[in-house]
Amino acid sequence: MSKITVVGAGKYGSTTVQRLAGADLADEVVMIDIVEGLPQGLALDMNQSRSVERYRTKVIGTNDYVDTAGSDVVVITAGLPRKPGMSRMDLLEVNAKIVKDVTEQIATASPDAVLVIVTNPLDHMTTLAAEVSGFAKARVMGQAGNLDTARFTHFIAERTGADILEVEALTLGSHGATMVPIPSQCWVAGKPLTEVLDAQEIEELVERTRNGGAEIVSLLKTGSAYYAPSAAAAKMVRAVLKDSNEQMPVCAWTGGEYGISDVYLGVPAKVGAGGVTAITELDLTDDELMELRAAAAAVQEKVEELHSLDV
Ligand code: APR
Repeated sequence: MSKITVVGAGKYGSTTVQRLAGADLADEVVMIDIVEGLPQGLALDMNQSRSVERYRTKVIGTNDYVDTAGSDVVVITAGLPRKPGMSRMDLLEVNAKIVKDVTEQIATASPDAVLVIVTNPLDHMTTLAAEVSGFAKARVMGQAGNLDTARFTHFIAERTGADILEVEALTLGSHGATMVPIPSQCWVAGKPLTEVLDAQEIEELVERTRNGGAEIVSLLKTGSAYYAPSAAAAKMVRAVLKDSNEQMPVCAWTGGEYGISDVYLGVPAKVGAGGVTAITELDLTDDELMELRAAAAAVQEKVEELHSLDV
């Protein structure tokens, strides 16, 4: 059995902890936040649900990194969420300071951990965590693709009337304006999506997927999404702890795949005990490939901006 830490006991962090504890994957899940009492209170509440839900994993709420020591996987959710009208990129500077501080402490306490970053702007915070931790790039990855894919899957199921469990979809690229939904890799009850919906209908779903997070932010008015995001992050943690090498879209460090190098970007990857164990090269259309390369260039440009910040 193993140890998981989730940094940030807000909406995203606490729902991730609850999903991971309920899955009985680890001996303990440590939840750490800067707000005193918050992780402790949530942990007490969650632990009291164990006998009802029938699982053993214990949740430890803390404000001290000593309690996170020796974690196998660490999920970093600390940071501000968007407000209505904001783009994820508007959070760059404020969240960079938080992610830098948190990563330094985590890297010291758990030098062998796999890091899963979810704080936005996602591709850039993943880059920053890799740089600050000094960990091998394969051990640092970001969660975006499982979430964007889940949103795309939901929209396809709603539009086609298909059973949600019979829809397969895929999104790659950045977790933002240059998200790249991949219609050529989408299936509805075994049929290619491109044979089920026309190009105009697919484009509408692609656009709604790209704006999937903003749509929820504007409805909630305060805070951003966390149910689907925490499900997506928990899936990555499970793959690491079970060493499943399951393939999923992950914000991973590229090394020439799809003609893209040296940038963190959403690509299909196998996830196991070492983090990203391989990046898979799917047969994308020329347009999809072009969009993916454009996404890489857009992330790279913002990474330069990140490097120019005084964080
Ligand atoms: N160390 C630890 N925790 C911190 C720190 C820090 N330095 N700074 C902030 N936090 C905590 C806050 O105290 C809060 O409990 O991070 C938590 C953030 O929780 P929410 O405001 O509820 O935000 P949430 O919806 O969880 O989103 C967190 O994930 O999806 C992204 O865009 C989202 O960047 C945001 C992140």
